Amino acid sequence: MRRASIFERYGGFAMAGKIVMAFYDRILDSDITGPYFDDVDMPRLMDHQTKFVASVMGGPASYSDEALQQLHARLNVSEQAFDEMADLFRDTLEDFAMAEEDIETLMQEIMARKPVIVKAAS
Ligand code: HEM
Repeated sequence: MRRASIFERYGGFAMAGKIVMAFYDRILDSDITGPYFDDVDMPRLMDHQTKFVASVMGGPASYSDEALQQLHARLNVSEQAFDEMADLFRDTLEDFAMAEEDIETLMQEIMARKPVIVKAAS
């Protein structure tokens, strides 16, 4: 029998939404990532991030690398900011008592997007 995806095993969209809320509280509180979101409509961003978290967890809805690149191109995301966000994501998943093996799988999905999100030094 097919093994249930991480998305299915941790409660689907309901859990993904809770993870996104907790994750964004941390992102806004951080002096490194917070300023990037000063002018952003948070409900809209949370909706999108819920879809993203759902997709990296193996649920429905996904963003192509090309779409992510276009969405972040004008934001000048630094490598430091990306790494901070990745650390905060890990902290959040640990708070939700996700198994280490599953956290590793999701972190790999996130880190694979780094070259797409971080502004190349120019
Ligand atoms: C794997 C890492 C990341 C993923 C998957 C991701 C995903 C997304 C998605 C799906 C959106 C779309 C929102 C929309 O359609 O309106 C978005 C927007 C945004 N992202 Fe990311 N993001 C990542 C990393 C980062 C980092 C590291 C930063 C900054 C520190 C950042 C800052 C932003 C901002 C400011 C917006 C809002 C743009 C706007 O609507 O004005 N993102 N992100």
